[in-house]
Amino acid sequence: MSHKLELIAAACENMGIGINGDLPWRLKTEMAFFTRMTTETNHTNKKNVVLMGRRTWECIPDKYRPLKDRINMVLTSKSLDYGNETITCKSISHAFDIITQMQNQIERVWVIGGSSVYKSAMESPYFGRLYLTRIKKKFECDTFFPPIPNDFVLIEDPTIPQGIQKENGIEFVYEVYERR
Ligand SMILES: NC(=O)c1ccc[n+]([C@@H]2O[C@H](COP(=O)([O-])OP(=O)(O)OC[C@H]3O[C@@H](n4cnc5c(N)ncnc54)[C@H](OP(=O)(O)O)[C@@H]3O)[C@@H](O)[C@H]2O)c1
Repeated sequence: MSHKLELIAAACENMGIGINGDLPWRLKTEMAFFTRMTTETNHTNKKNVVLMGRRTWECIPDKYRPLKDRINMVLTSKSLDYGNETITCKSISHAFDIITQMQNQIERVWVIGGSSVYKSAMESPYFGRLYLTRIKKKFECDTFFPPIPNDFVLIEDPTIPQGIQKENGIEFVYEVYERR
């Protein structure tokens, strides 16, 4: 596969990312950041992939899926059909095969969750970057971001909002990691 994997996630202080098939918080600006990062391309004739697990797909409200202006790919072991616009993949290597076949149409490959998909992507030789929003509050969660490998280091990315962000009294910060 020619593309690097870019992960995007938001986690709270206890590293939670979800509860009851939903996000534990409502942060419109953080959601807008996710949409911008995963949608924007430099080439107008290319789109980004959003690669996700089946439960993450299911937690996207009907009216918002497939996520627009992106190539939606859903990992599932089941024979599910999410319509013409969404690609279902039986395994990560199956997803990589499809990405390779479509590589001329694809600009970036975003891994958007959940837990096991993030873990596989961080362990993959194709790992590129992790965009992690650190939400500076504890929330009750049942789904967690996997441990960040020791050889990941924080890097500067001037294209993303810098410093502490705030919405509805909740503080958060955008971090970017690469493998050392
Ligand atoms: N805060 C964030 O940034 C963020 C991001 C994403 C999700 N979330 C939250 O996280 C929760 C959902 O995440 P999750 O970890 O529970 O589930 P998930 O990873 O989205 O989905 C798990 C399912 O994906 C399929 N799958 C995963 N890896 C696969 C592989 N290698 N090959 C084939 N199929 C594979 C399997 O589906 P089958 O059972 O169909 O085989 C598996 O049961 C929700 O609460 C959501 O709101 C939060």
